[in-house]
Amino acid sequence: MFKDTEQPNIVQLKDISQSYDGGKTFIIQHLDMLIEDKADQGQFIVILGASGCGKSTILRYIAGLQKPTTGEVLIHDKPITTDNRVSMVFQQYSSLPWMTVLDNVALGLRYKGVEEKERNSKAMEFIELVGLAGHEKKFAQYPTLSGGQLQRVAIARSMIANPDILLMDEPFGALDINTRLQMQELLLELWYKFHPTVVFVTHDISEAVYLGDDIYMMKRAPSRFIEHVAVDLPFKRDREIKRQTHFMELVRDVEDRMLKVVSF
Ligand SMILES: Nc1ncnc2c1ncn2[C@@H]1O[C@H](COP(=O)(O)OP(=O)(O)OP(=O)(O)O)[C@@H](O)[C@H]1O
Ligand SMILES: [Mg+2]
Repeated sequence: MFKDTEQPNIVQLKDISQSYDGGKTFIIQHLDMLIEDKADQGQFIVILGASGCGKSTILRYIAGLQKPTTGEVLIHDKPITTDNRVSMVFQQYSSLPWMTVLDNVALGLRYKGVEEKERNSKAMEFIELVGLAGHEKKFAQYPTLSGGQLQRVAIARSMIANPDILLMDEPFGALDINTRLQMQELLLELWYKFHPTVVFVTHDISEAVYLGDDIYMMKRAPSRFIEHVAVDLPFKRDREIKRQTHFMELVRDVEDRMLKVVSF
């Protein structure tokens, strides 16, 4: 949250406030956030907070989809431009149901003017990476594809743009536990391979500790970050780590702090 190394900044939110009623009440007030860029390693930031505290709103600021009422949003120390490589996986399924999996994944490349053969072959690479080979001709809609498969499409679509910032808004919230665990492993694999800066929102504390390097907790409206836990687990993780005492201690610590944070 605060500058602690000489590394350049990648995301900075400065004294952000958000009101939807002309300043009578504030959803977010005096919120600051600073994420430093670990370019050849990437980092995994997790945001926790009660429903309605403004987590999705923060991701929308960083994606450039919304401007705060007051305050500044900087990417690489500059105001947001369309050149920033920021991808977002939304809280709701966001694939285009009238398009095939292949066309959904290739969509960003099409907008960039990449010709069809090249974009389809790149899209197939990512479809294979997320384990959807054989499904590329299907329409990206439920129930033709399951919830987990649709989130794989969304992840492939967001990764193909080679983002340096990947925003994920409760991406596994609607999945059954097996699929959710599989998706956590898939996400870690992709993260090790492409090392973007990930900002990940979840309500699941075990998921937050397993995936995150840093966990930031938001209080209720008017919200801002009031707690931070640095997750001192090894950089590379696998499911075995969840059985270790230190993992369980971290989960308990985050849980205790969350109980305080939500009653703040
Ligand atoms: N356009 C809008 N007009 C009025 N209020 C809004 C608008 N957009 C968001 N809000 C309010 O801002 C608050 C924060 O919303 P946001 O979606 O960021 O919450 P969240 O932390 O992501 O919640 P959840 O965990 O349920 O997804 C909510 O109270 C919401 O009702
Ligand atoms: Mg939300």
